[in-house]
Amino acid sequence: MAGLTPDQVQDARRGWAVDAKTRALLHVAERLVEARGRVQDDELAAARSAGWSDAELLEVVGHVALDIFTNYVDHVAETPIDFPIAPPLATALTPRGGAREARGGPPGWSGRGRPIGLPGGFPPGPGGGRIPAMTTTRAAELDWANLGFVYVKTPWRYQAEHRGGAWTGGELVEDAQLHIEEGATSLHYAQQCFEGLKAFRHPNGKAHLFRPSDNHLRMASSSARLLMPSPPESLFLRACLETVKANLEFVPPADSGASLYIRPLLIGVGDNLGLRAATRYIFRTFCSPVGPYFKGGLKAVKLRVTAIDRVAKSGTGAYKVGGNYAGGLMATQEAKQAGYDEALYLDPIEHRYLEEAGSANVFGILPPRTPGGPARLVTPESPSILPSITLKSVLTLAKEELGLEVERRRVSIDEVPSFAEMGCTGTAAVITPVGTVHHAGKDTVITDGVGPITRKLYDLLTGIQRGKLADARGWCVPCE
Ligand code: PLP
Ligand code: COI
Repeated sequence: MAGLTPDQVQDARRGWAVDAKTRALLHVAERLVEARGRVQDDELAAARSAGWSDAELLEVVGHVALDIFTNYVDHVAETPIDFPIAPPLATALTPRGGAREARGGPPGWSGRGRPIGLPGGFPPGPGGGRIPAMTTTRAAELDWANLGFVYVKTPWRYQAEHRGGAWTGGELVEDAQLHIEEGATSLHYAQQCFEGLKAFRHPNGKAHLFRPSDNHLRMASSSARLLMPSPPESLFLRACLETVKANLEFVPPADSGASLYIRPLLIGVGDNLGLRAATRYIFRTFCSPVGPYFKGGLKAVKLRVTAIDRVAKSGTGAYKVGGNYAGGLMATQEAKQAGYDEALYLDPIEHRYLEEAGSANVFGILPPRTPGGPARLVTPESPSILPSITLKSVLTLAKEELGLEVERRRVSIDEVPSFAEMGCTGTAAVITPVGTVHHAGKDTVITDGVGPITRKLYDLLTGIQRGKLADARGWCVPCE
């Protein structure tokens, strides 16, 4: 494949050195990523007649998605529609008819929210059909206010499969285990990526997902980086919504402070030995009710700068792929053993600039440039940081609601002592104040509680997520 590199895509999207051939490709890719306007057959034909293959197009879709992410350029928000791709890519979504085998559903399901546009279910498993449910916790037994970030198994998950170049299946399943080949590329070569998003019960009693299309966009970019077919937006959203709806009793009560965490997962499966991409993929979403990621909730945490690199300079840091996390387990463990909550990474070239924490992005609050001016929120810019949807939301709120000056740039570790406040952002971490940073043998204490700006950002973000504040930007998507 001789498509475009992520850098070429970035340059081209900014209008640099774009020839007609590249423009034809980008035009279609951008439309596909935004999934807002249907791609016309003639547009696709133009890209193809310029010599681009569908595989190259898919790859560039991933790069465009990454560019949108890393540069925090919002795409136009309209009602999500089915992923509009012409054949052969469209075979992924084309209904093939054939009634789905009649089977029971989750409580109160009655066929509502049945997969649409995707062909019938998987062939029966070894038991001749339905595999018995694994032991799950009963929702009534949960102490919502005291949940941690641990896996509480719920009865239903959603699964689809990509094989023969098309998405197939797409149904709720009870079996919490995956039955995959021992030669699966996800097991040997870490050909897998995942996402994390949350559903919140609003005061009206209804469950809402927070910015799920952004998670889809990031999965599109991660999967393209690892040569995997991304689930189209329609499938991704359907999987998340169906998972929430099927496990509705596990969405914690509105006032509990807890939420339902949804984990979408895309893995290469099938028999394989050599180093190559899989020919079959499983996309699954499962969920768990969760409380705070860091013990104690909104309480300042201590980060420890590690000598370990999370990722390489031109590696996979900007993608949510499992390999990044396996490589970071040791840094997190070392931080915890030394009495800290999480590792903090520096850039892999000079070990001088802040990257991110093991499970979240970071930001600092700097005093105003001039007396009476706005405080500044600074967050590291680097090609090897995972673009956080929570941070993206925080930057918007900081700028538009609090009137802060927002800076995205390289941030030296030497700037940390000048931070008035510091925080980390993530779906699991929400906004967690950072009280202490350990570096080069000493602790820098920033705060021992929650700083006023961090508190305001936390209240704004969680107020919107939990339906207590107006959702002016359409970030909350109702599930019911
Ligand atoms: N960075 C890393 C390494 C993460 O694992 C996460 C969590 O997803 C984030 C940042 C935050 O991203 P988001 O806010 O989209 O959850
Ligand atoms: C998330 O915040 O969604 C993550 O995936 C982080 C993970 C370490 C729990």
